[in-house]
Amino acid sequence: MQYGHFDDKNKEYVITTPQTPLPWINYLGNDSYFSLISNTAGGYSFYRDARLRRITRYRYNNVPYDQGGRYLYLRNNANGQVWSSSWQPVKKDLNHYTCRHGLGYTRISSDYQGIHAHTIYFVPLQANCEIWRTTLKNDTQAPVDLSLFSLVEFCLWDALDDSTNYQRNFNIGEVEVEGSVIYHTTEYRERRDHFAYFACSEPLTGFDTDRNAFLDNYHGFENPQVVQTGKSNQSIAHGWAPIASHHLQFALNPQEEKEIIFVLGYFENPREQKFDSNHPFQINKQFVSPRIQHYLQPSVLDAAFDDLARFWQEILEQYQVTTPDQDTNRMVNIWNAYQCMTTFNLSRSASYFESGIGRGMGFRDSNQDLLGFVQMVPAKARERLIDLAATQLPNGGAYHQYQPLTKRGNDAVGGNFNDDPLWLILAVAAYLKETGDHSILKELVPYDNQADTETALFEHLQRAFSYTLDRLGPHGLPLIGRADWNDCLNLNCFSLTPGESFQTTENKAGGVAESVFIAGLFILAGHEMEKIAQITLETQYAQQVRQHVKDMQEAVLTHGWDGAWFRRAYDYFGDVLGSQQNPEGKIFIEPQGICVMADVGLENSYALKAMDSVNAWLNSVHGVMLVQPAFTRYDPKYGEITSYPPGYKENASVFCHTNPWVMIAETRLGRGNQAFDYYKRINPSTRESISDVHRCEPYVYAQTIAGKDAPTQGEAKNSWLTGTAAWNYVAITQFILGIRPDYDGLVIDPCIPADWPSFTATRKIRNATYHIQVHNPHHHQSGVKTMLVDGKPHPIGTPIPYYEDGHTHHIEVWLG
Ligand code: BGC
Ligand code: NOJ
Repeated sequence: MQYGHFDDKNKEYVITTPQTPLPWINYLGNDSYFSLISNTAGGYSFYRDARLRRITRYRYNNVPYDQGGRYLYLRNNANGQVWSSSWQPVKKDLNHYTCRHGLGYTRISSDYQGIHAHTIYFVPLQANCEIWRTTLKNDTQAPVDLSLFSLVEFCLWDALDDSTNYQRNFNIGEVEVEGSVIYHTTEYRERRDHFAYFACSEPLTGFDTDRNAFLDNYHGFENPQVVQTGKSNQSIAHGWAPIASHHLQFALNPQEEKEIIFVLGYFENPREQKFDSNHPFQINKQFVSPRIQHYLQPSVLDAAFDDLARFWQEILEQYQVTTPDQDTNRMVNIWNAYQCMTTFNLSRSASYFESGIGRGMGFRDSNQDLLGFVQMVPAKARERLIDLAATQLPNGGAYHQYQPLTKRGNDAVGGNFNDDPLWLILAVAAYLKETGDHSILKELVPYDNQADTETALFEHLQRAFSYTLDRLGPHGLPLIGRADWNDCLNLNCFSLTPGESFQTTENKAGGVAESVFIAGLFILAGHEMEKIAQITLETQYAQQVRQHVKDMQEAVLTHGWDGAWFRRAYDYFGDVLGSQQNPEGKIFIEPQGICVMADVGLENSYALKAMDSVNAWLNSVHGVMLVQPAFTRYDPKYGEITSYPPGYKENASVFCHTNPWVMIAETRLGRGNQAFDYYKRINPSTRESISDVHRCEPYVYAQTIAGKDAPTQGEAKNSWLTGTAAWNYVAITQFILGIRPDYDGLVIDPCIPADWPSFTATRKIRNATYHIQVHNPHHHQSGVKTMLVDGKPHPIGTPIPYYEDGHTHHIEVWLG
């Protein structure tokens, strides 16, 4: 069953009923002002940091779902009928409803009793505000007398404090109202120089800023007293809960249309000039007023909206494909790339499953997100790499996350994840391949943000690499630390205290838990490290790296191989996990994916056997599960993974992040049918037709899909902010379609389903455009037989040069 459809031409997903199985959301904003907006206009906004600078309030886990957002109430003053154009919160049966989520904007339109309402919500590029641009039209034969009430509820800035510290917070709320602008000024009197505002293009009939005055006691958002009666109170909030509601009353003749613009924004004043010189304690509005007036002009918004469309057009042009498969085309060309931008911007901080107060930017997460983003805005990727490296510790280790506002590392969600540092090498490698900007390796970057500790970025990578070597266990495999990529495989934790966090609790010392996954990651990163060392002419170091990689391969082949697949780990006591010997947790996906991606076992039969075992043991109709058999009981020596009911999260769900690893691994074996089959199983667009089972948005990846052991098999959770976005983008664009930037040229090595007769792609990279046609007349899965570059034969196995000449080059490839 579906709840909408794709509109590929307009790059939109069109939701045709407000009652989706879960709120289906979109993100607005790319730089510092961000909004989450659901298909019924729920959600919230923040400036840079979802925890520390929350602009509007949102209550997660509300009943029913998704209360609180960007609401517009309409009232027909002749008959007292009240509705909301986005269905929520009033939930009147609308005669028509659509929500179109597009790239950086959302349009919601509705018809009720002959009144057509259409609102487009977007954040202009580089602006610290969001626009709600509403048009109302009278489609009836008679004039109507309408009232429109807007509503946002302000958050008292720190979202954690806002939802916990009521003894203080019920006393501090403050606002100012001037003309049609409502200012939220809580804590401005003391240390804040920033405030929020909600402006309207029209003169007001009235307003409210006190939530209780607007709703009345014991009323919810669905039936505010003010909207029911059609009379606002001009209330001024003193403590309690500041809101902003404009009230406009106007008549519309038959077929008459009216446009109303709202601007919700964030603004910082210079500290020395923060107060109005005539009115101490009032905001100095001298700087903000022109900004507000600017964005209240329709012509400015037309231009801003065009700019946004152009921005996305240019971003997406970096990679466009036409394959025989529509799900592939729309995910590669539009939605997967779009999701990669979101994960790059927000890491795992704020979604409908991440509260925005739990986590900042994850070190391993951000490095992986960059893999799917680097081609979009390389300069931003560069900046991110430097920020990440600057949080690295002198011993090469990493904080697990940092706060975007301060850029400082913190251990709030644990530390000593021994895989963390290695991801930096993969991310820098991706940046170098995309841009050829070797200067980044010489960039001086501090450790732990401490002055006078700067070294070249290249040394950061060396220290990251050594971090693993300095922590090897008895089998020569890397010690796992608190956990590796799988945060829930806690082999040193041994927690017996209810509720204790597995991610932060003190670990038990003295064990020898080793990770085969980190070994595979080390080899993968080692291949890059060797090439990077060659770039910097550190040939001796490159040789050392090669030797370390060889030793690690040896260790994996000797101690990491179980007979039919790669083992997962050795536990605290040195006992094996992810082996035939284990009654549960016999086979895990992560080491199969990462080892084969790193080409371990390609020369003997191990890689092939491992991938066959993945198919035999872990594959399911909804994707490849993380582990089998699932753990059925809590085992303190394995930690959080065994805390989940079977089939959920790390305990044997289809943990989508790992699926592209096995897709890529399959392409290393040349098996395009299998790689693509895995790709299709979790492709959100493919799953659109089972939206009632999948339940999350059909246009973006979710982190998990319940596995075969779960009673709700096939149900997705945790959409949007997941490394799944970047890795699937890498798997399909670079390995299945096979168009892959390398250090010295563009590799074209497709590994596709045999029944594809052909596909075409356009890739822009390093100031040249490559127009690529791949022919597959004899239905092969891989192996390039002939290649023409601008009509001339090109040697197989040699990348296509980076022409950097601003021109378009035509590449023709035949598989055979
Ligand atoms: C989740 C993991 C996550 C970890 C850290 C765990 O509860 O299952 O997916 O990585 O928390 O936040
Ligand atoms: C989600 C976390 O953000 C990521 O860092 C981790 O690798 C996966 N969960 C697996 O546990």
